[in-house]
Amino acid sequence: MSATKWTAVRIRAMKGQGKFACLTAYDFSTARLVDEAGIPLILVGDSLAMTMLGYDTTLPVTMAAMLHHAAAVARGVSGALVVADMPFMSYQVSVAQALENAGRFIKEAGADAVKIEGGRFRAPTVKALIENGIPVLAHIGLTPQSIHTLGGYKVQGKKSEEAQRLVEDAQALEDAGAFAIVLECLPPALGEAITKTVGIPTIGIGAGPHCDGQILVTHDLLGITGEVSPKFIKRYAALGASMKQAFSEYKREVEQGHFPGPEHCYT
Ligand code: KIV
Repeated sequence: MSATKWTAVRIRAMKGQGKFACLTAYDFSTARLVDEAGIPLILVGDSLAMTMLGYDTTLPVTMAAMLHHAAAVARGVSGALVVADMPFMSYQVSVAQALENAGRFIKEAGADAVKIEGGRFRAPTVKALIENGIPVLAHIGLTPQSIHTLGGYKVQGKKSEEAQRLVEDAQALEDAGAFAIVLECLPPALGEAITKTVGIPTIGIGAGPHCDGQILVTHDLLGITGEVSPKFIKRYAALGASMKQAFSEYKREVEQGHFPGPEHCYT
């Protein structure tokens, strides 16, 4: 392992050392660019169910699909920590199931760590994974794999008892050994409270500016996803529009006989 490679241990040590940016990636070429930009943590999110595969939720994505994309990302990365998101029902059934599937991400896909959703009830799974050499990124707040029980994509922890429960969940996951925790869709004050309570980095997505790190879905950041998007997204580019323009220009040039030109032909 190169000295500049980000590890779960290094990410954990970022607590209190300044803020850091994380992104998702699902393919080799994007992962390479994200890595070259110096992003320390790349998540092969199960959001690929929506961004890459066109499903309405993250629930249908399979282990086979996640392994396929995680392996492509791992091949494109030399510096960042590659975290594979464990898909719905690949770890919930039993600790043994979680161990077996998490092991596949490390052995077959070349991921460095896994992410699983859930609060204190997930602590035994987190502990077992870590005891068996697999670093775990926890994920609480809005956990999209529980969309049917949550009743929609809503801000979590607005009531004080819910907020307290989330603080305790974060503590339990830290005690179980998670190297960091994703906080999704929480009021900023709760993001701050959890960040101040735990000794591991919090990585926010829609959880305000006080988290130790931030993560965005790369397709959202690049402006490739649809117009309707959650408030917490910031678009740093309008690649969707640029791509459409390039496709149209190519179509026109082919139809008008301008492409290929002499410079694109072998002599
Ligand atoms: O799947 C994903 O992309 C995620 C991030 C939103 C944290 O879980």
